[in-house]
Amino acid sequence: MLNIDVAKVPYIRTAVPGPKSIELLTEQGKYETASVTYPKSFPIGIKSMKDSVIEDVDGNLFIDWLTGISVLNLGYSEFIRDAVRAEMESTWHALEIPTEARIEFLKALRSSFPSNMQDYKTIFGISGADACETAVNLAHAVSGRDSYTIVFEGAYHGVSGGIIAATYESKYKAGNNSPGFKVIRSPYPGILWENYSVGDVIDYIQTAIRENSADSLLVEPVLGEGGYVVPPEGFLKALRKLCDENNIIMIVDEVQAGMGRTGKMWAFEYDGIKPDIVCAGKSVGGGIPMSLVYYRGDFDEKLPTPFHLGTYRANPLALAAGREVLKRTPAVLDSVKERGKYLLKAFSEIDSDVIAQVRGKGFMIGIELGKNGGPVDSNTMARYKKLLIENGIVMHTCGHYGNTFRFMGALNIDQKLLDTGVEIFEKVVRTKW
Ligand SMILES: Cc1ncc(COP(=O)(O)O)c(C=O)c1O
Repeated sequence: MLNIDVAKVPYIRTAVPGPKSIELLTEQGKYETASVTYPKSFPIGIKSMKDSVIEDVDGNLFIDWLTGISVLNLGYSEFIRDAVRAEMESTWHALEIPTEARIEFLKALRSSFPSNMQDYKTIFGISGADACETAVNLAHAVSGRDSYTIVFEGAYHGVSGGIIAATYESKYKAGNNSPGFKVIRSPYPGILWENYSVGDVIDYIQTAIRENSADSLLVEPVLGEGGYVVPPEGFLKALRKLCDENNIIMIVDEVQAGMGRTGKMWAFEYDGIKPDIVCAGKSVGGGIPMSLVYYRGDFDEKLPTPFHLGTYRANPLALAAGREVLKRTPAVLDSVKERGKYLLKAFSEIDSDVIAQVRGKGFMIGIELGKNGGPVDSNTMARYKKLLIENGIVMHTCGHYGNTFRFMGALNIDQKLLDTGVEIFEKVVRTKW
């Protein structure tokens, strides 16, 4: 791993991409599908990573505000690497046959949930899509009905067979023509340029379920790919009530907002609700692929064996990394809440006529760019993105119009990489073309 003085980050010594990066990107193009997405947004070849710093093959050092899309919530940490290495000494593939790491992970996972969710059980998966797909199948198995699932505008739950229907944007569906699960699509409250209140959304759903009966509802507590939209307070509570009154199983998708990202271990905790099913992924394996569904224990009675299958689920290395993440995350939650507020203020105070809204919770912060009463166009966004990486920040965008920059730095990022990052971001968004 790199030995880095964060005071010297970012350090940009070549054009971006530099010559060695261009060489790797060109080779990749020869062998790998032309449909890769991330190398188009982040045109570098990676040499090494350490904590919240990425070194490219040309010797440039970047601030990592991407964290592999909220997968590396504790960065490229030595303690995760060491946990994986130690597990590697004993085993690295065990199916569902218990290992000590598996049981320790399951116990730590349960303790990460509120006291009224201690009788829940876990099904493991590989990806976030896998978890969300399993959660909806679980709801159908429990309800005994293959009926509708209520989902939301802006939602992203993955792109595999059934769950593709729950994901909102058509641009994500080009590679999968399957109709997927039957869904009722509701507006999501709090989206800029739209005007839905919590009451409007509840009315909308109530009307819709009179026509088509629903057995489940799948919601992100903060919209992720949909634009880092924080719904008005009480949204999840209102949904919980609606689900209770209509015998609907409530599934909360914490794949992106969970594992401390918003300053609480699970984002639904802000609303004090008790979901029936929770989906987790991304950071739950500390960067080694793993996802899971945490569900009401009494649902077990309704599940056949086998119910969900997959050779690679809950790999021992992912369990060991995840156990380390679960152990260390509680210690950073207060700082995420506090530094999240600091960042919200810092981004809000940037004097730029293109910032339309700054919003967020903890380390899930969206900076939406707009001009003349509408979103900034994609060409202008591409220019800002290019400038950001050329100035040493790896930062992604999201939202329906792709016009929201999203801060999703590691929860334990060095303060210096926040301060310097905000300065660079300010310089970039104040650029006049
Ligand atoms: C909220 C949410 N759910 C599900 C997924 C799908 O996860 P994966 O890409 O691991 O399939 C994502 C991915 O971004 C997500 O943000």
